[in-house]
Amino acid sequence: MDFKQHIIDKIIEITDLDRETVTGAVETPPDEKMGDLAFPCFPLARIMHKAPPAIAAELAERLSGDEYIEKAQAQGGYLNFFFNRAKYIKDTVTAAREAGSDWGKSDIGGGKTVLVEYSSPNIAKPFHIGHLFSTAVGNSLARIYKHLGYNVQSLNHLGDWGTQFGKLICAYKRWGDRAVIEKDPINELLKIYVKFHEEAEKDPALDDEAREYFKKLEDGDKETTELWQYFKDISLVEFKRVYDMLGVEFDSYNGEAFYSDKMDEVVEILRDKNLLTESEGAQVVDLSDLDMPPCIILKSDGATIYATRDIAAALYRHRTYDFYKNIYVVGLPQSLHFKQIFAVMDKAGWDWSKGCKHVGFGLVKLPGKAMSTRHGDVVFLEDVLNESIEKTREIIEKNNSKVDDIDDAAKKIGIGAILYTFLHSSREKDIVFSWESMLDFEGESAPYCQYGYARGRSILRRAEGVDYESADLSKAASDEAYTLIKQLGAFGDAVKDAAEKNEPFYINRYVTALVKLFNKFYTTNPILKDDVDEETRKARLAIVDAVTKTIKIALNLLGIDTVESM
Ligand code: ARG
Repeated sequence: MDFKQHIIDKIIEITDLDRETVTGAVETPPDEKMGDLAFPCFPLARIMHKAPPAIAAELAERLSGDEYIEKAQAQGGYLNFFFNRAKYIKDTVTAAREAGSDWGKSDIGGGKTVLVEYSSPNIAKPFHIGHLFSTAVGNSLARIYKHLGYNVQSLNHLGDWGTQFGKLICAYKRWGDRAVIEKDPINELLKIYVKFHEEAEKDPALDDEAREYFKKLEDGDKETTELWQYFKDISLVEFKRVYDMLGVEFDSYNGEAFYSDKMDEVVEILRDKNLLTESEGAQVVDLSDLDMPPCIILKSDGATIYATRDIAAALYRHRTYDFYKNIYVVGLPQSLHFKQIFAVMDKAGWDWSKGCKHVGFGLVKLPGKAMSTRHGDVVFLEDVLNESIEKTREIIEKNNSKVDDIDDAAKKIGIGAILYTFLHSSREKDIVFSWESMLDFEGESAPYCQYGYARGRSILRRAEGVDYESADLSKAASDEAYTLIKQLGAFGDAVKDAAEKNEPFYINRYVTALVKLFNKFYTTNPILKDDVDEETRKARLAIVDAVTKTIKIALNLLGIDTVESM
């Protein structure tokens, strides 16, 4: 039973207000002492020709006391509702336990297709911390949308095309050594790429050579294409190692190169619609009416660029998936780029482009030397993940924690700690990485939440044999249980809010609060102690069961694994 809905129905029944007004007006009071829900009676004043406090008093009398409402109380112009706590606990815990892993799910997605594009690293370049931010947010959003019944496709728009590949091929031809590259592919490719820039500064002829190589690549020349494929293959091996560590999977790895033969059509369409104008030899779409710089479609040498490939990709995605939403999880520095391409698509009359959305995120600051790396200046992501796992292992050992498999636990907790940090605040905020807070088992962190889960699991294990399936939950109706179960009941809303705002931190905040309340619950409401009567024990165990399952689902929506003991 949905208590809020029940109250809304009753208010509608006895007032003549429409559903929308009542639904919009019912709110959660700022303080629990003022009840579970409040209805401000101000909209009724004009209809009933009475002052709001008088209306509240009258309604209070007519609405008080039924199976769900303990009492309705007038306070000023507000009508405050107090739920029947025992009933609320019973209904909510039962619903959560019956739903199992479906708890918090809804069918608002109705099978509509949501594309989540994220991670999208660049071939032959390090997978950097910004790509990890994108991966954390995108992976979580993909899971959240799935939970809401959307058909989700995870897309990795690899940066595998562009003039830089001409440079890389040129560098490889001059200084590349396959045996050396094979040992540490991305680092070595990066080295020769950097060397290319140094040398080209002294000898500009190198740039011409690189341009020729890229031209060859565009024309499908066998040798250059093979080299490009080789760079792509060895880069993907490295990227996939990171994705495996993170438990991330993609439905498509179609990168920029995939669209290289799909751009002529875009240029033609834009030309047909008279959207292309010439500017300094380049073909651009003028966006001055929108106060934006022009979007370059063809460079003066006729080469297409990043934006053109993105427009071709959007058109392809529309045709292939007929998406409801096409989400780009890409850093905020690219905001203008996305505004421009969306504007071009809008000018082209593609009304489906309204479903395209840039979901941006802030910068990541690594505090000085704290993030050590074997690679000098560039922070290699794998190093950061491994360092987190290593540090976690040390903490587990120092704490003498009871873990079943220390390798497995260190990995799940260490990686969870990093993911949690990315998803802790509104994504547009910058993040400062700090090992202390990331691995603080008592602060707001993944280990803190994972520990709460493990505690719950340990209680259930120790209670083995106690049959709490049909527990009488009214036996557990304490203040702490009630606050905890109210949070339990708010899960579905948190998932919906997270999707609506494309903000996984709603789930993060939700689960952290749930664990806090859970800790308070099991420390003040003894469960396994001898003097707890059997019926109360059963009721409390049923709560532990529902809450631990919810912690697991919520953490999973953030991409974070749980461990059974810690
Ligand atoms: N590869 C790009 C980068 O590393 C990100 C790609 C973003 N996605 C897109 N459709 N433009 O900056």
